[in-house]
Amino acid sequence: MTFIVRAYEPRDAEATWQTFLHAVRQTASADYTPRQILAWAPDTVDADAWNQTRSRAHTFVATIDDRVVGFGDVTATGLVDMLFVHPDAGGRGVARVLVDAVIGKARELGLERLHTHASRTARPVFERFGFVVDRANPDNRVRGEVVPNFDMHLDLGA
Ligand SMILES: CC(C)(COP(=O)(O)OP(=O)(O)OC[C@H]1O[C@@H](n2cnc3c(N)ncnc32)[C@H](O)[C@@H]1OP(=O)(O)O)[C@@H](O)C(=O)NCCC(=O)NCCS
Repeated sequence: MTFIVRAYEPRDAEATWQTFLHAVRQTASADYTPRQILAWAPDTVDADAWNQTRSRAHTFVATIDDRVVGFGDVTATGLVDMLFVHPDAGGRGVARVLVDAVIGKARELGLERLHTHASRTARPVFERFGFVVDRANPDNRVRGEVVPNFDMHLDLGA
């Protein structure tokens, strides 16, 4: 088994979308209703827009034997917009390795703080990484549906 974390490339667009879909529809469905899940992870995506957003951020993909099993990112302003691991590969430290890569990039960029809008599912995981909750967003909406989440941050220190 070969486990690698590397920078996102446009050829990863489809695999990262599929990882997102499976992570939300399977893993996060324990914490949200079917309507919320469908709003968050709809059937279709604008593939160009998806690729452009992933390419604009500093996005890392985790692969096992060349198969994408997770991805995470950090934007120029320190937003961790994405952290998704395929349920097949969950619970084995993939998110931790991705977040380590994100923190490394953030330090390289001179960022002092990371922030994220964490799902109910991801909140305890981000807490394990040292993020703290700033506030709950019970009225957060995604495509018209209320999908509550939490604003969290991590101070990177010196
Ligand atoms: C959240 C998610 C990315 C975690 O990925 P993962 O690869 O399974 O996580 P890891 O195995 O790296 O675990 C990371 C840490 O969180 C801990 N952890 C995992 N699940 C946990 C839970 N439910 N409660 C508390 N801690 C948890 C692990 O023990 C680990 O800590 P450790 O390294 O100190 O032992 C993945 O479950 C996912 O994609 N969820 C659905 C989508 C989602 O909500 N994404 C976030 C959008 S904001």
